[in-house]
Amino acid sequence: MTLLITAIPELVTNDPEAPDLLGVIEDAALLVEDGTVAWVGPESELPAEVRARAQETVEARGAVIPGFVDSHNHLVFAGDRSAEFAARMAGESYSAGGIRTTVAATRAASEAELEANLVHLVEQAERSGTTTFEIKTGYGLTTADEIRGLEIIRRHTDEATLLAAHVVPPEFADDPDGYVDLVIEEIIPAAAGLAKWIDVFCEEGAFTEEQTARILDAGVAHGMHPRLHANQLTAGGALQLAAAHRCASADHATFASDEDLAALAAAGTVVTLLPGVEFSTRQPYPDARRYLAAGVTLAIASDCNPGSCFTSSIPFCIALAVRDMHFTVEQAVWAATAGGAAALERTDVGRLTPGSRADLSILDAPSYRHLAYRPGVQLIAEVHRAGERIAG
Ligand code: NIG
Ligand code: FE
Repeated sequence: MTLLITAIPELVTNDPEAPDLLGVIEDAALLVEDGTVAWVGPESELPAEVRARAQETVEARGAVIPGFVDSHNHLVFAGDRSAEFAARMAGESYSAGGIRTTVAATRAASEAELEANLVHLVEQAERSGTTTFEIKTGYGLTTADEIRGLEIIRRHTDEATLLAAHVVPPEFADDPDGYVDLVIEEIIPAAAGLAKWIDVFCEEGAFTEEQTARILDAGVAHGMHPRLHANQLTAGGALQLAAAHRCASADHATFASDEDLAALAAAGTVVTLLPGVEFSTRQPYPDARRYLAAGVTLAIASDCNPGSCFTSSIPFCIALAVRDMHFTVEQAVWAATAGGAAALERTDVGRLTPGSRADLSILDAPSYRHLAYRPGVQLIAEVHRAGERIAG
């Protein structure tokens, strides 16, 4: 199916060769052939031969942006923690311990229930413009439950992450190193070939730096690429560890010293900021200007999960990032598209240039700026993945 999109007042390409960050083309057209972008440019320059190839034409009459690449999600779970959120808003503080509530509910749920919940959440996020999903395990914490989670994830995305080291499960409360041994000796070998990524929640109340290093090394030995939950709640050594292990991404990074940022920039580790987490835990928002000034590449992701942040809306995260983390609108849109792709070591998504996958949203707005300018308004009119309309 060859689709021509015309009447695009503003097209965000994220072309790395363009002089501006977003590679914006005004009054643009875009041709999709076999699920990939075949031509982009000003509509006035559209060759007659390209126009003739179109089997269908859509007039966008709104800005077109690359599909969001949401590089951080925990979508395999059951249960509800809205009471925990309400208590937080009334003054309680967030702690990693809440994860165990979801572990109990997840273990008790059937595979069909878990998959139905994941599909529901994925479809909601697609309606908000997300076209690439990374999804983590982490609420099973037994070999069987973690593998069940990975199998569900793999039916929906290749970006599957083993987060067996999310917290120490209750049955190992007196023997945390015994659980680390189980992760290394049993869960990681069983997950090889299923999980692209190995992740650890390196934090007080979760896993120490030493345990984290052992788990990352074991995952890498089984063919997984490393990424990390780092410095979410405390200013520990997790960001330095992420840089030393050449993680593709260090996520949260709510607390980061100048030395941490220098090490991450030198290692080429992307920092994935998760503004929805600061929003729904009342943690301080990190200031993106410091991270960018240090030369760090930033991504923005949702961290959709039942505890620390239950939004899947990247437009909401962009608005928060601009308002409260001091991203410019351009930096935030880039971070939620090309930045997410960098955090997943992908170059085929997060951009709309010839050869990239035709993942895009048509906005009910004349400019990408409206994503931050009109917070909370549903501006995602139509979503396509690999040239197929998936929402709107
Ligand atoms: O990314 N930080 C650890 N994991 C999740 C929270 C999970 C939960 O509270 O259930 C996060 O914030
Ligand atoms: Fe997370």
